[in-house]
Amino acid sequence: MLNTFQTLTELLHKHQDLWRIEPFFLAMDSNNKWSNSQSELGEWFAGLSSREIELLKFNRERCNNSLSKFIPCLDELMSLCVLPELPQSELALPRGLDKGVPGRKQSQITRMGQSCMQHHQGQEWLEWCAGKGYLGRILAHQSGHKVTSFEYQQTLCDIGQSEADKLGLNMQFTQGDAFSVQAMSAMNGQQHAVALHACGDLHVTLLRHASHLKLPAITISPCCYHLIQGEEYQPLSKVAQQSGLSLTRAELRIPLQETVTGGARVQRHRAQEMSYRLGFDALCQQERLIDHYMPVPSIKKSLLSEGFEAFCYWACERKQLSLPAVDFAKYASIGEQRFWRMEAYSLVQSAFRRPLEIWLLLDKALYLKESGYRVSVSTFCDYQTTPRNCLLHASRVENKKASYN
Ligand SMILES: C[S@@+](CC[C@H](N)C(=O)[O-])C[C@H]1O[C@@H](n2cnc3c(N)ncnc32)[C@H](O)[C@@H]1O
Repeated sequence: MLNTFQTLTELLHKHQDLWRIEPFFLAMDSNNKWSNSQSELGEWFAGLSSREIELLKFNRERCNNSLSKFIPCLDELMSLCVLPELPQSELALPRGLDKGVPGRKQSQITRMGQSCMQHHQGQEWLEWCAGKGYLGRILAHQSGHKVTSFEYQQTLCDIGQSEADKLGLNMQFTQGDAFSVQAMSAMNGQQHAVALHACGDLHVTLLRHASHLKLPAITISPCCYHLIQGEEYQPLSKVAQQSGLSLTRAELRIPLQETVTGGARVQRHRAQEMSYRLGFDALCQQERLIDHYMPVPSIKKSLLSEGFEAFCYWACERKQLSLPAVDFAKYASIGEQRFWRMEAYSLVQSAFRRPLEIWLLLDKALYLKESGYRVSVSTFCDYQTTPRNCLLHASRVENKKASYN
């Protein structure tokens, strides 16, 4: 684990110019590092058709094969990101336990529930950022042990408690703020703490509190790494703190920038909106309406169907700019060209999505090792069920100094 982390750190450092980019802004800059064909990568971008970009975007393997000509370490990088998969069998949910649980969530909680059960230590459970307590229901039912479901939203606590009571489960919802001092009072030394998709600092806070209180076991599946209180990621492990790899809040979003899964309509809207925004920026700059990038507020998707010209009038009205008569077709076309450039640049950045996610996961794993836990990392379901499919499990090693392996 330590070797993997160190090699990942080295490769991320070495290639940071490829992933520390903002494709949207890069596409606006006609003199960016890839815009001329002098670099091999720039030449490759220039030769890609929109159809090819789209094919590569939706076929990770093909994309990596093409990119590995320019980024020779890509195969090594990808092999570092392969985690053991948990067996794909799911716990059968007894009738009633699945009430109100959406389809994909069912798969997640049954698979994660099974893993929690296999690794269970302690006499109780703590379900951190529980929502309606879907995972807790399984754990209470399977183990008979008490589940404390800690959740911020009172409505979710009320719904979760009422369902648990109807099912006769030993679950106690506690409303509270994970960041408050009182949060620790929901914890006790008998609990196995679990968290399914607690965002950013919420799962970090759990790891800090739970390891401080020496809880017997911790199982989490992290998500939304960018939802942090500071401007930069604060590594937890000593190894990561000494790695010199810093990540801004914007860079913490990179692992979440999945290929759009929302179907053809959502993708069409996105392409149209981005092209319009990029074209509008070209119009503003070239017609000297403004001399810097000006963010335009979000727009109702139905307005997009009125076309680029209507978008420009709408944006100018919002920004109190007066729009002269211009060649809208020219700027619409620039917007479209910029859009495909942005998509091409994103292909490179997306090759680093999983490596960054695994780096963040291993930071937590190494922190728990440093804190006296035996740790394993795996995937608990396939990527289609949820791209946030990493699972970190830690069991307390009593009176034994944790070691890296
Ligand atoms: C992504 S949801 C996951 C819910 C549940 N674990 C699941 O997978 O269905 C994150 C949950 O964290 C809760 N939450 C957000 N901020 C919180 C805070 N400061 N303290 C406690 N819970 C919080 C939200 O209300 C939400 O229910």
